[in-house]
Amino acid sequence: MHPQGIGQYCAHAEDILAIEKLPWRQDMNTLQDLQELEAWWVSKDPWNYEENGDDEKRKGMLLYAIPRKEYRRVLDIGCGNGFITRHLPGREIIGVDVSANAIRHARESSRGFPHIQYRQHSIFEMPVQDSSRSFDLIVVTGVLYPQYIASAEKLIYAIIDELLMDGGILVSCHIDAWYTSRFPYVTLLREYYPYRDYNHVLEVYMK
Ligand SMILES: C[S@@+](CC[C@H](N)C(=O)[O-])C[C@H]1O[C@@H](n2cnc3c(N)ncnc32)[C@H](O)[C@@H]1O
Repeated sequence: MHPQGIGQYCAHAEDILAIEKLPWRQDMNTLQDLQELEAWWVSKDPWNYEENGDDEKRKGMLLYAIPRKEYRRVLDIGCGNGFITRHLPGREIIGVDVSANAIRHARESSRGFPHIQYRQHSIFEMPVQDSSRSFDLIVVTGVLYPQYIASAEKLIYAIIDELLMDGGILVSCHIDAWYTSRFPYVTLLREYYPYRDYNHVLEVYMK
């Protein structure tokens, strides 16, 4: 991450987090080594989502939990190969992922869907034009784990808050034991269910 990238999204990030002290300040893309992540994403389905019934269920529950309304601009943070992204409702859908390989797979899997765009960059490097609270739906699933964001939950909140419009919907879905953040928005849904060897927590918030 470029330090100035934080500033443009979150003018007070340094105050909020004392980010100078964050351990990943030197390598700000992601805590997990990016090369390792890229090696993982050589496979187009490294976690075997396409074949695993629990992931089909996860996807179904997440999509069902999205409040029914018309979404104009939708963001999937850490979209991976687009397993969820390509099913999201909305006029314009943007998936971002730090992995170039994941984005390549995502683009292949969504070919023929011109309303879906994929971009390779970190959540910590969202372009300035997105910072004007222009998204009315944001999805983040399987991303808010220490291996990806260290202990930067508050910074993630600040970034999402800059991206999500007032009244917008945030959907978060994670392994409960690995994810402890809660967003300070109105909670519309919090549901726990078994997922592989774990429990998942699916949350829907309204800003
Ligand atoms: C477990 S996968 C989940 C993929 C997708 N959300 C899904 O559920 O199908 C986590 C994804 O987060 C991405 N990721 C990790 N750190 C990131 C960051 N700082 N910014 C954007 N994406 C990131 C990884 O490359 C990976 O594709």
